[in-house]
Amino acid sequence: MKVTIIGAGNVGSSCASLLSHKDIVTEIVLLDIKPMISKGKSLDISQMNVVCDINTRLIGFGNDFSKSENSEIIVITCGIPRKQGMDRDELLNINAEIIHFVTKKSIFFSPKAKFIIVSNPLDIMTYVSYVTSNIDSSSVIGMAGILDSARYRFFLSEKLNISPYNIHTVLLGGHGDYMVPLYRYTSISGIPIKEFISEKENEIIIEKTRKGGEEIVNYLGTSAWMAPAASIVEMIESILKNSKKVFSCSTLLKGEYGIKNIYLGMPVVLGKNGIERVIELNLNNEEIDLLKMSYNSVKNTIKKLKIKI
Ligand code: NAI
Ligand code: 2OP
Repeated sequence: MKVTIIGAGNVGSSCASLLSHKDIVTEIVLLDIKPMISKGKSLDISQMNVVCDINTRLIGFGNDFSKSENSEIIVITCGIPRKQGMDRDELLNINAEIIHFVTKKSIFFSPKAKFIIVSNPLDIMTYVSYVTSNIDSSSVIGMAGILDSARYRFFLSEKLNISPYNIHTVLLGGHGDYMVPLYRYTSISGIPIKEFISEKENEIIIEKTRKGGEEIVNYLGTSAWMAPAASIVEMIESILKNSKKVFSCSTLLKGEYGIKNIYLGMPVVLGKNGIERVIELNLNNEEIDLLKMSYNSVKNTIKKLKIKI
């Protein structure tokens, strides 16, 4: 099993490190436009793997896409992250060019790969990669919902003093200020969340979740990488092991909730074929309105795309 990660920065290298610790792939190829970065990070992680008795082979090849040939999974974590005071959407046109370029290069060498897109603005970069690759949308998947759900679960667990392990939730919409964590579909070991916290109190937690990425940017001056990397590894594992786990991932909508031809977060089944099923929920009017707001926000950002794909 071979996985290529394009972008050996904070998220990409942490993903390589966490993935090698799972010991589920034979080879990880780390590419980056800065060759020294991909080579240096690969060596460091490889030498850590010796200490930790891990067999995964990790190789940094700079910007040589031919080395990604026949990868089962391509993870795209390249581009620029946001700095303090920046919105994810401000990365739009710079990252769109980069995602278009690296998708074209990597689909040529791995036409059967599943693509996991991480670069921001996430839903739009996933769309750019999907259109560029010209493969089935089930094979081009955006990572955000696992991270946003983890933040929501974390803040709830802090508030309720209950393990986040037992908190399950569903999150819809774009990876941005209009993400839609669903109160009605959140539970603790099967007990509806309303038994623990009122909808009004939950709103405060949701607002914290929406600002969860920004909070970290304010502390670090750049965006988060450990929780994002762990979220990517969850997706890789479910695909490679054909586990068919249900996660919120960004996927192409084909008429769900009356929405078409846009990538948005939805609960999906992830297995060896990538997205094997999109789970459509019986939303109430209020939830539909929130989803439509999120949809409009992503659609309005797409209009600012300058790149021709
Ligand atoms: P980083 O700056 O640490 O790493 C990005 C890497 O991409 C750099 O090493 C850079 O040299 C490389 N790169 C730039 N252009 C390239 C090209 N054409 N080909 C190959 N490599 C190229 O950034 P970080 O923190 O790793 O974030 C990466 C992206 O992921 C950002 O867009 C960030 O906003 C996004 N992100 C998304 C998350 C999500 O939930 N979807 C979570 C965290 C980050
Ligand atoms: C986050 O939410 C930057 O999108 C990234 O942390």
